[in-house]
Amino acid sequence: MTQSNHKEALHLPIFKILSEASDELGVESYVIGGFVRDYFLKRGNPKDIDIVAVGSGIELAKKVARKLPGNPKISIFKNFGTAMIRHHDLELEFVGARKESYDRNSRKPHVEDGTLQEDQERRDFTINALALSLSSENFGELLDPFNGISDLENNIIRTPLEPGITYSDDPLRMMRAIRFASQLDFIIELKSLQAITENKERIQIVSKERIVDELHKIIGSKKPSIGLSLLHKTGLLDFILPELTALQGIEEVEGQRHKDNFWHTLEVVDNIAKTTDNLWLRWAALLHDIGKAPTKKFDKKIGWTFHAHEFVGSKMVYKLFKRLRLPLNDKMKYVQKLVLMSSRPIVLAEEFATDSAVRRLIFDAGEYVDDLMTLCEADITTKNAKKRKKYKNNFKIVREKLIEVEERDHVRNFQPPISGEEIMQTFNLKPSKEIGILKAAIKEAILEGEIPNEHTAAKEFMLQKAKEIGLTPIKN
Ligand code: CTP
Repeated sequence: MTQSNHKEALHLPIFKILSEASDELGVESYVIGGFVRDYFLKRGNPKDIDIVAVGSGIELAKKVARKLPGNPKISIFKNFGTAMIRHHDLELEFVGARKESYDRNSRKPHVEDGTLQEDQERRDFTINALALSLSSENFGELLDPFNGISDLENNIIRTPLEPGITYSDDPLRMMRAIRFASQLDFIIELKSLQAITENKERIQIVSKERIVDELHKIIGSKKPSIGLSLLHKTGLLDFILPELTALQGIEEVEGQRHKDNFWHTLEVVDNIAKTTDNLWLRWAALLHDIGKAPTKKFDKKIGWTFHAHEFVGSKMVYKLFKRLRLPLNDKMKYVQKLVLMSSRPIVLAEEFATDSAVRRLIFDAGEYVDDLMTLCEADITTKNAKKRKKYKNNFKIVREKLIEVEERDHVRNFQPPISGEEIMQTFNLKPSKEIGILKAAIKEAILEGEIPNEHTAAKEFMLQKAKEIGLTPIKN
């Protein structure tokens, strides 16, 4: 193991306090995990600092809290032998060095005290097992028994122990490996990848919330297809998002093939990741084609069809969110709506977009219209340069028209220019179907561009329409 010192990583005043507290208690302590990894990766902005004490982590935390101004509160988790102090915007997590062994059917470890090295080898990856000493005699010294630094330099995710043991100990680590690969653009060592594939069923003992946390970090990464394709390759995706794996494959009937909608989807997600950090918009990109698997048919006359896949897909979003315990709130409705409307702008972009088609798009998409456009532009994955250019260009025109039409007609948050109340008064009507008929006719006329979205024109139109259905206005 190479010896090196990295005092400069520990320049925050809190590390001095930690060092004094360890010396006074006579225990060795180390910063370990994400803080050290991210320091070497120059990732900046740490949110938590993990401290391991060769002794009691809880006692060290108590000592540190007494030294901090304001004597902050300590959260102690006795069963786990851990403690947490919030200090400014950092969470300090304390634990005693331990060797652990796990039950096959749960993620709960049996914990025993151990040495630093025993603790390091029970951690998930070599890059997360790097430790910097806090004791004054070797403050800042790096302890890297599993060559984590070299893995950091070579962009490799590797486990300290045999990967089968590490993943079997805690199956969440299979997701973590793939998440780090996706976030950091690292390669998972082959042996590790094989172990994940062999242990994939064990993901089922991990809670949905933990799985989703990792999935969100994958979807949130710069190039989500790295993580998503690894989930697919290892077979984990079948347990997490079977709706997506169902999209994989190309079928050919009578010489006609359809595209592979799984790989297409991954391209769309990568595309959208370049333009937005909105997690739910990225979810919409991931799910926009899920309705294609259950609706796929071959028609002798027109070839492959996916009739009403947007509608079917939007219904599937609910079940999927429920299964993964994702929020069943306005976020889900947003994803559903985008899936439901995901083909609309592309249809517009294929031909000349009329004002009324654009007006209808704004009316139906409402406040989501800009996000819908972003999704649909990301959906352009054709390798045919000519077609691509045409679509991009048409999208530009649609975007310009969106602005122009909205400025003129204000249909984005459409409020009918004539209320039901006014219709009732004009014709002395009680609530009845005629009111609905007139309101719908006015809305249609506005969307079609026959009349502007304003009261005077709408009233004139209404009177004429009313005459056609035999209504006469009362005289004032
Ligand atoms: N760890 C582990 N196995 C897990 C989770 C965590 O061995 N299933 C260890 C790793 O050493 C990890 C440390 O605990 O570095 C802290 O975990 P956590 O705070 O969850 O993640 P970080 O590695 O800090 O990374 P991030 O903040 O990006 O989640």
